[in-house]
Amino acid sequence: MRLYIDSANIESIKMLNDYFPIAGVTTNPSILVKEEKPYLDTLKEIRAIIGTDKELFVQAIGDRAEEIVEEARFISQQISGNVIVKVPVTEEGIKAIKLLAAENIPTLATTVYTAFQALMAAMAGAKYVAPYVNRIDNLAGNGVKVVTEIAQLFKTYELGCEILAASFKNLQQVFEVCLAGAETVTVSPDIIEKMIAFPSTGTDVATFKQQWQDFYGEKATTLINT
Ligand code: G3P
Repeated sequence: MRLYIDSANIESIKMLNDYFPIAGVTTNPSILVKEEKPYLDTLKEIRAIIGTDKELFVQAIGDRAEEIVEEARFISQQISGNVIVKVPVTEEGIKAIKLLAAENIPTLATTVYTAFQALMAAMAGAKYVAPYVNRIDNLAGNGVKVVTEIAQLFKTYELGCEILAASFKNLQQVFEVCLAGAETVTVSPDIIEKMIAFPSTGTDVATFKQQWQDFYGEKATTLINT
């Protein structure tokens, strides 16, 4: 499983990239606008934090396939390193994914609500598809079931495309899509932090330390100074 940060907040990205096994950062128009500054500056700052090997996802805005292709070329020139262009799964988007695959520009098909949308995008040459798990749930659908179906279709048709599950409201949804076969997930900073949170872990660690210092003395804070 690979874990991506679904945010453009510089402080959060710095912290999470430092502490957690992060494969990259995904953004979308709402996420970039939230930072209230020129989007290219934000993307370049993110790139400086995560380095050039980790993937950075940027979503195209254009309506027509040709506009999306132009945006993809532009963003690949502007942002160094491993950039993936997010393209919505509209008709124009699917056409753009085909054109970009021919240019070897990697894409992620986004705003995926059905397994068939994912199948079309994968057949068109998308590197990733992003099913919107919580948004599907909010429409009285079943986001985890859609991820399961996509995984099944990709296996049946031996498609190299990977599932990057997105849109989560809680950790249980993330856990369930991992079990359902999503190769990768993109998660907001608050939910990533919850991935390792469990009160007993903290109290166990404090007890170990106290026992150590009760025996070896207060100055014995590590194995080295014991
Ligand atoms: O990566 C897509 C994601 O940002 C959408 O999430 O929480 O706005 O449904 P959300």
